[in-house]
Amino acid sequence: MERTLSIIKPDGVARGIIGEVIKRLEINHLKIVAMKMMKMDTAQAQGFYSVHKERPFFDSLTHFMTSGPVVVMVLEGENAITKYREIMGATDYREAAEGTIRKDFATDIEKNVVHGSDSPETAAFEIGYFFNRFELIV
Ligand code: CMP
Repeated sequence: MERTLSIIKPDGVARGIIGEVIKRLEINHLKIVAMKMMKMDTAQAQGFYSVHKERPFFDSLTHFMTSGPVVVMVLEGENAITKYREIMGATDYREAAEGTIRKDFATDIEKNVVHGSDSPETAAFEIGYFFNRFELIV
């Protein structure tokens, strides 16, 4: 069993597709073991995306991620990291496979509806960033 962090980004929440995203997680046997809705402040978003701090899109990304509420979840399942990345589709929705969340709903490389951890090390950091151990269902 593996765990990964999922975020439904401000564009996904604003467009009313929280339910659609969660349905796709559940039918693919990704179990939600923690979930919260929150509005990140700038420091939180900058800390979360600190690996990207030198990238040209960093300011725009952190501004977008603080523009409205997000839904943050921890997902658990077999190969959860890879499986969730397959369900999300490529970061750039123009390259995402048919039937993926980003292919179906993303409007922009930045406003790409969802975030998912990209490795076990990243997942550990990202889960710990938003949840303490008492908030994770065991
Ligand atoms: P995410 O999976 O959350 O990880 C970093 C985010 O930066 C990415 O999704 C996009 O929302 C955003 N982003 C904006 N521009 C780019 C870009 N050129 N390449 C990669 N990510 C980008």
